[in-house]
Amino acid sequence: MARKIIIDTDPGVDDTMAIFFALKSPELDVIGLTTIFGNVHTALASTNAVRLMEIADRREIPVASGVADPLTRAFGGPVPYVHGEDGQGNLFLPPPQGQPIDQSAADFIIEQVMRHPGEITLVPVGPLTNIALALRLEPRIAENVREVVLMGGNAIVPGNASPAAEANIRNDPEAADLVFGAPWQVTMVGLDVTHKVNMKRKHLEHYSTINSPLAQHIARIVPHYRDFFERTYEVDGIFVHDSSAIAYVIDPSLFKTEHWPIRVETEGLSRGKTWPNLGDRLRPEWENRPRVNVCVEVDSQRLIDLEMARMEA
Ligand code: BDR
Ligand code: CA
Repeated sequence: MARKIIIDTDPGVDDTMAIFFALKSPELDVIGLTTIFGNVHTALASTNAVRLMEIADRREIPVASGVADPLTRAFGGPVPYVHGEDGQGNLFLPPPQGQPIDQSAADFIIEQVMRHPGEITLVPVGPLTNIALALRLEPRIAENVREVVLMGGNAIVPGNASPAAEANIRNDPEAADLVFGAPWQVTMVGLDVTHKVNMKRKHLEHYSTINSPLAQHIARIVPHYRDFFERTYEVDGIFVHDSSAIAYVIDPSLFKTEHWPIRVETEGLSRGKTWPNLGDRLRPEWENRPRVNVCVEVDSQRLIDLEMARMEA
């Protein structure tokens, strides 16, 4: 039976690629999208998410809007130079016909997890505020979820939003520390692996040759995003962030993992840094925290082949 997932997302170009990859994968049953600020403000993330379901002709999949700000401060603002002013590569498409459901992201997550105990995998690919709020409102989701597979963090490599921190975690470090500390199985698909998955121009250009509305939409939104990567990192093409979390849910054998408890720095220059306690001697701040399944190596070629094959099917 296909695995039920909820994708918590800030679409976002790579979020779009990840969502479509999931929709095209028979192993997965996307039962809903929940939205969050990050690449864009939450309201725009919701508009984009609804439009993506219309492009994919999957209007039955509900979109639940999340909160507009992190747990303890105001949102620092979107990143138009990465994802476009509209979060969709500056296409400025007309508004969708539908709208988000009349239920908050946190309430939707709680309702679904408690209705399907042990069945739902949460796949957050944006800041972790909705997930932390859901945990606060209903701590029993921790024992009723199947697992959490998130894109975010950097265990033993530098950050991308700052020298210390990855963008999703830096956008709400307090929420991330709650999520990494809750008594559930968390897998961290962070920059340790996503910066090793390089989808090249030749792959990206292939999308425009695939005869499906999903691939055609990706082909249209990706150039702005690709230009950011090529300018910033001097690579050919892009690094694959959010789709790597989807790939993990489909096939964990693509990754090698370590099991470390994680704390998140919430103050100062290193705000948003995910700190693993390496080795067996745990410092007091890491004691009594669950061990996070941290992805450290990836079969990059096999991951890219999987995503491309799914998008072609
Ligand atoms: C993460 O930040 C966002 O820009 C991407 O969508 C991804 O989720 C990468 O650091
Ligand atoms: Ca994202």
